[in-house]
Amino acid sequence: MTSPREPIGVIGTGYVGLVTAAGFAELGNDVWCIDIDAAKVDRLKRGEIPIYEPGLAELVTKHRGRLHFSTDIADALEQARLLFVAVGTPPTYSGDADLSSVNAVVDAMPPSDQHALVMKSTVPVGTGDSIKRIFAGQGKEGFRYVSCPEFLKEGSAVSDFLRPNRVVVGDDGDWAGDAVVELYAPLDAPLVRTDIASGEMIKLAANAFLATKISFINEIANVCEVTGANVTEVAKGIGLDDRIGPKFLQAGVGFGGSCFPKDVSALKQLAGNSGYHFQLLNAVIEVNELQKRRVIGKLEKHLGTLVGKRVALLGLAFKPNTDDMREATSLVLSARLQAAGAHVSAYDPIAEGEARRMMPGLEFADDTLGCVRDADAVVLVTEWEEFKTMDLGQIAAAMAGNVLIDGRNALDPAAVRAAGLIYEGIGQG
Ligand code: UDX
Repeated sequence: MTSPREPIGVIGTGYVGLVTAAGFAELGNDVWCIDIDAAKVDRLKRGEIPIYEPGLAELVTKHRGRLHFSTDIADALEQARLLFVAVGTPPTYSGDADLSSVNAVVDAMPPSDQHALVMKSTVPVGTGDSIKRIFAGQGKEGFRYVSCPEFLKEGSAVSDFLRPNRVVVGDDGDWAGDAVVELYAPLDAPLVRTDIASGEMIKLAANAFLATKISFINEIANVCEVTGANVTEVAKGIGLDDRIGPKFLQAGVGFGGSCFPKDVSALKQLAGNSGYHFQLLNAVIEVNELQKRRVIGKLEKHLGTLVGKRVALLGLAFKPNTDDMREATSLVLSARLQAAGAHVSAYDPIAEGEARRMMPGLEFADDTLGCVRDADAVVLVTEWEEFKTMDLGQIAAAMAGNVLIDGRNALDPAAVRAAGLIYEGIGQG
């Protein structure tokens, strides 16, 4: 006889909230999902999923009976003692994290010694402490607090939730931390049980380290270009050292998304606010900004001035298998190309709707061939599977020119050249 699973609340139904809710429903928990956006809650009640994430819609449909959606936090408080917080913490103009949504949740909590907030949103180190102080100031010192950072990647968020590398629980060693550990027990993942501040830092440090790895390999790629080495070979050669590892050594046109740019900047800012100048992260950010713009130089090398030239962008989302355009390299690249006088066409299998809102002045195509038609140059920006397998002969025939910049080293250079195109990747000698 197994004991019934504990019901939980999840506040915020964005990427993290919805995946967490669906993931726990899969483990057998009833989940009360709360969002202030009434229209979104209505859509979710009708079974519509507001984001594109492989496997998520299926999981939400499968567990319709366990997933309850509401705009009223009281519903979650009534049903559950653990309230996961998964609201947005976007960067402010200063690079700090904007905690207004988190603070609104804190203020909405009633006095209770039977509830805990479990923080999934990425917050600065020290947030748990200050929330506990706020609770104390509001006569709610009985409310417990747990840091439980999320490491899911967009595009594989559901499997990341169900098969995590580790579970981090930062708490004060009370019932709430024990209950969160218990919730995750069926996943059988390595557990890091620690204090709240360390839990908060683990999330920021993990993302900062991965971003550092990407900027590092991008700089190696840039040096490869001037020395004749090939970054793909170099990444393979260093990645086999198990102290380094093969992942996140894919050189390209820079990292984007909702996490890396924001979290690297937040950690840099957090250090700065505390009197420490985090030099390495300054470089990571600067290298990334320059990397997005290097494509312009590559195009000019082949086309001369870009004034009046037609450039086709294949892929707009910040990475494949997502419709997320946040901090996508395509945003900077298309704006730079337009500023340089080029005519820009674009195609993305999924992100077009979002892209249209964010990228005025672009000509959007319905498919790859429509995008590259009459183009002087094509730039592969996001390595969607359909671009890796596209018919290069057809591409070459549809283009007016013959330059292909592979911004993700996703294509076979020999095959591109065999189709009669000039191939230029990132860091390929
Ligand atoms: C990331 C972290 O991986 C995840 O643990 C955290 O919870 C949220 O942030 P995500 O933003 O979904 O996840 O995407 P990820 O797959 O990590 O890629 C981030 C960016 O880095 C993308 O723009 C991707 O194209 C780029 N990238 C990644 C590279 O340029 N090279 C690589 O080798 C890996």
